[in-house]
Amino acid sequence: MGKLLDGKKMANEIQSEVAHRVEELRNNNKRVPHLGIILIGEEGASHTYVNGKIKACKAVGFEYTLLQFAATITESKLLKHIERLNQDDDIDGFIVQLPLPEHISVEQIITLIDSKKDVDGFTNHNFGSIISDQPLLLPATPFGVMELLKRYQVTTKGKHCVIVGASRIVGAPMSLMMVEQGQATVTICHKFTQDLAEHTRKADILIVAVGKPGLITADMVKSDAVIIDVGITRVPDTTKKIGFRLLGDVDFENIAPKSSFITPVPGGVGPLTIASLLLNTLKAYEQQHT
Ligand code: GUN
Repeated sequence: MGKLLDGKKMANEIQSEVAHRVEELRNNNKRVPHLGIILIGEEGASHTYVNGKIKACKAVGFEYTLLQFAATITESKLLKHIERLNQDDDIDGFIVQLPLPEHISVEQIITLIDSKKDVDGFTNHNFGSIISDQPLLLPATPFGVMELLKRYQVTTKGKHCVIVGASRIVGAPMSLMMVEQGQATVTICHKFTQDLAEHTRKADILIVAVGKPGLITADMVKSDAVIIDVGITRVPDTTKKIGFRLLGDVDFENIAPKSSFITPVPGGVGPLTIASLLLNTLKAYEQQHT
């Protein structure tokens, strides 16, 4: 059985550190960091993430402002809200929860975000800093994955890391971090990749960020691989009070026994993404206000 990479435990440790810093600010009569969150539409996974982000803000003592809009909001209205957040000195950082409705250009939205307040690390300026000596606000999920691997002393140097999913949120920045910080050999697979299993079977470290439960089956993984499951999909479950449960992209039950390390869903990468967001918000606050 692979050893569990306990993201929840690590996220709790990070949260305690951030809460301690907030306490110090309060004791010095300073204002506390303030995160803005824009949430659009009714997508289940987005609501799960945003609920977690709000809960984390409350737990560490950050202020937060949630701006929630219907999926019909126009791009120009949304851009105006972003301009307002850019100019609001009370907001240290903000995020626009993705995905966005199809009529809104993600590119337009991200381009407008002030990189100093871009606590998701999505802007070109922050994204590019992954490969510089002075990283700025790094994308939260890949940053969390790198921290988790470090914490469990998983060697990445010289290993073959296969990433499934090439998104701007996870796959693309993850690949750069794995090369730059991890010194790994990287393969990125995406929806046009032919014979996915041929690639995944070669992975010493397999990182999957697609959002398709059961995509990775046991026959697609080599023995003793390290498995990082970034997928998070709500599936209806009437036995649960909340009416759904969360599933990753990996067939955990059958893959865990043959892996060396594996992240659970929930309790793996998800909480770390949120912990990284708290760290970035604190960093943005400190860079702008101290
Ligand atoms: N959608 C899925 N993950 C994320 C994330 O880390 N940030 C934002 N803004 N949207 C997401």
